[in-house]
Amino acid sequence: MRVFSGWRRFLLCLPLIFFLPHIFSVLELQQTSTVEDLHKKQTKKFDHLVLGPAAGEGLHDRLQCQGIKALNKTQFSASANNFNFGENIAFITVFTTYNSSIDRTINGKLRELVTVGNTSYNKVERSMAILNVFINFIQATMPQSNIIILTDPASKLPVHKNRVTLYPIQGEYSRDKLMLQRIRSYIAFLETRLQEHSQWQGHINHYIFTDSDVAVVDDLGQIFNNYPNFHLALTFRNNKEQPLNSGFIAVRGTPDGIRRGKVFLQEVLKVYSSKYMKASRMLGDQLALAWVVKSHPSFDAKRFTKPQAFLEKIGGASVLFLPCAIYNWTPPEGAGQFHGMPLDVKVVHFKGSRKRLMLESWNFLNSSSSSDISDMLCLILSSGRTKYDF
Ligand SMILES: *[C@@H]1O[C@H](CO)[C@@H](O)[C@H](O)[C@H]1NC(C)=O
Ligand SMILES: *[C@@H]1O[C@H](CO)[C@@H](O)[C@H](O)[C@H]1NC(C)=O
Ligand SMILES: *[C@@H]1O[C@H](CO)[C@@H](O)[C@H](O)[C@H]1NC(C)=O
Ligand SMILES: *[C@@H]1O[C@H](CO)[C@@H](O)[C@H](O)[C@H]1NC(C)=O
Repeated sequence: MRVFSGWRRFLLCLPLIFFLPHIFSVLELQQTSTVEDLHKKQTKKFDHLVLGPAAGEGLHDRLQCQGIKALNKTQFSASANNFNFGENIAFITVFTTYNSSIDRTINGKLRELVTVGNTSYNKVERSMAILNVFINFIQATMPQSNIIILTDPASKLPVHKNRVTLYPIQGEYSRDKLMLQRIRSYIAFLETRLQEHSQWQGHINHYIFTDSDVAVVDDLGQIFNNYPNFHLALTFRNNKEQPLNSGFIAVRGTPDGIRRGKVFLQEVLKVYSSKYMKASRMLGDQLALAWVVKSHPSFDAKRFTKPQAFLEKIGGASVLFLPCAIYNWTPPEGAGQFHGMPLDVKVVHFKGSRKRLMLESWNFLNSSSSSDISDMLCLILSSGRTKYDF
């Protein structure tokens, strides 16, 4: 999403920043051009979908595609049918837009328009388009759920949709502080929910905090049914430095779940503020999350190597660890390992330069010629390696 595009772009450069000194120390100077070429290749961004082979071919538990036709029709659950009466899900995202003329001076040039389908977008419109598509996907796959947008009281978001609520929270929304503000907003939101406890009247609202550049492609209500004992759920991947992604955090909507979820996030905020402020623009929250989890004495980080859900007590909270492969699936950047897409993928995360793909996917799903989620997943799988301009 537009709000995070600054730190995301920075994030994309990270592998190079990490690699460069290493490469220079290993290779002769004449190899410098190779690194530059690599950099050029990595920064080329496309203004149209680029389809490649669908990874995971021949693997029986991965989606098989023929072009953008899915050979496996994934069984998507009908959300209304398998959730307890009196319980609901609300998706929460932090979103704000920035004054585009300030944007322009920062970058020293006019922002060009970018076109998807028959619509052109300037920078602010692009971020609004991402937010709208985020909402569209949720309303298509989980029509009973609500969406709450935590935002800067100063930003007047033009969002007028059923079941979508704007929730202004005072704070510091500058780009540099946005990830910090995001955790603060989550905590403030949970705090408010606790205070309103007496008005719940037995109604339970579970919360899923996500980035807004995700597409929910299956019902997520089953997490709360299938794993009845967690307070808080996080998504993990097999990555030593950043095993946890902050783009998906679920909190059980019981008083106990909310209280413990809040305390956990307060601990993350404390670690973030004391240890990772230098990274505040981008990775600080993920590093702080990982620190809180790994510093727990009984925690075994080896569990991150297998993509299987597990439950662990961290501080006072029962934390459910869900594999990113299913709940936060992202096509890896560049030439990383790419094992395809699990058949039961539920959330696709359009990190970094994949925002165009998010819009194209929605347009594809909503076009009259095809409305099949499995086919759309093939589109994502075969084009997700490309960097786009949006
Ligand atoms: C997915 O489709 C492929 C090709 O038709 C088939 O070989 C494979 O068994 C299917 N996988 C599952 C789990 O149904
Ligand atoms: C955006 O920034 C410009 C230049 O700083 C200012 O003149 C304008 O009033 C701002 N617009 C809004 C909506 O804040
Ligand atoms: C774009 O506009 C053209 C001509 O009006 C139309 O034929 C085409 O279907 C449109 N494409 C999309 C993606 O809406
Ligand atoms: C889906 O497509 C139809 C027809 O092109 C359009 O009228 C509708 O607004 C679209 N729905 C969403 C949620 O964008």
